[in-house]
Amino acid sequence: MLDSVLEKNRAYLQNTDSAVFNALVGEEKRQRYGIELIASENFAFPEVLALLGSAFTNKYSEGYPGRRYYGGQEFTDIIEELARERAKKIFRAEHANVQPLSGSSMNQAIYHAYLEPGDSVLGMELSHGGHLTHGAPVSHMGKIYNFLRYKTIIDKGGVIDWDQVEDLAVKNKPKILLCGHSSYPKDLDYKKFKFIADKVGALTMADVSHIGGWIATNHLNNPLDAGFDFMTTTTHKSMRGPRGGLILSRKEHAKKIDSSIFPGLQGGPHMNQVAATAVTMKKVLTREFNDYALMVLKNAKILAEELMTEGFELVTGGTENHLIVIDTVKSIGLDGKKSEELLDEFGITTNKQVVPDDPNPPLRPSGIRLGTPALTTRGMEEKDFKIIAKWITVILKERENLNSLSGLKSDIKTFSEKFILPGI
Ligand SMILES: Cc1ncc(COP(=O)(O)O)c(C=O)c1O
Repeated sequence: MLDSVLEKNRAYLQNTDSAVFNALVGEEKRQRYGIELIASENFAFPEVLALLGSAFTNKYSEGYPGRRYYGGQEFTDIIEELARERAKKIFRAEHANVQPLSGSSMNQAIYHAYLEPGDSVLGMELSHGGHLTHGAPVSHMGKIYNFLRYKTIIDKGGVIDWDQVEDLAVKNKPKILLCGHSSYPKDLDYKKFKFIADKVGALTMADVSHIGGWIATNHLNNPLDAGFDFMTTTTHKSMRGPRGGLILSRKEHAKKIDSSIFPGLQGGPHMNQVAATAVTMKKVLTREFNDYALMVLKNAKILAEELMTEGFELVTGGTENHLIVIDTVKSIGLDGKKSEELLDEFGITTNKQVVPDDPNPPLRPSGIRLGTPALTTRGMEEKDFKIIAKWITVILKERENLNSLSGLKSDIKTFSEKFILPGI
């Protein structure tokens, strides 16, 4: 019956708007035949896709379970409670807000709740791994609040410069000490952050958007175990959930966080997304997901090792999580934009990436970023990543001689289509 509903809905779409329908089919094929290495992407659970296109899309639910502004909430309250309770259990949190529409709004909600304009936040330098929503100068947050930056030590394997963190914290007394990243291939020592924050009376916030799934399965450190005030994570990357965010916190922050999300920052939560988050949290608690998380990390290790064997220089000299940053300029004299474009021509999708203290501009940076979550979801293992490392090497190194690679594009397509593509 479900199949027929889905098929009926697709048939409506095809009749109504062939341009959009054809783009959808094109995207499905791109995903099926390609090698998806973008570190922040994944293939959502089929249950998630089912809920995103479900009746919950139609419902307005401003407020929180038991305290809504509109009637008809008997089922939305159930799913939001389930999502909150499961998220709390997974991350050992005292409070969970599951309504953030995205990673950006989850972070903004914390800034707005605890900072006045001009207040300082100490976070990771963007080229060393930090994220746009951690106060990049081009973001609105970067204009409202005063973001200060700590770096990693490049020639010490990319460890955090703890002396600098402490120095900046003591001198500037930030209201929030922020850690977390989108391009830092190492685990973090949250106890050290907490120690420094306590010294200067700062709140502690970790944005673990990229690694939430590996924390959920206890393969990486959990900032809440170290006594952090807030942990934020997107749900669509490592956890294969819907696009959205979670705020996990200590109980004392519950009221302030909830009212910062609604009515402070957002209107009606997307209840289709909240329902999908509830089921994602259930899936993340399974043994299968634990095995998956372990495989993602193993695959990243082997991909990093193979690339280094081929002579590529990796930021921090390897990886402790799911992501890898190759300094393509140092490795082969090719910038990240050209590297991304070359790989794209063969159906291998990556993204250009700034490297620490990058001398090149952001749109033509010195590296590319790769990640293993999406392909691991498709069932790829270490032996498959060895093959992918060889392809990346040959494409980037033989760029002056692409004619010699004439059969490679179709080899990649044939390889890729052998693997499952959940939900599509
Ligand atoms: C560390 C981190 N925080 C926040 C975000 C923002 O998430 P969204 O794209 O859902 O706004 C991202 C997304 O890439 C991220 O990597």
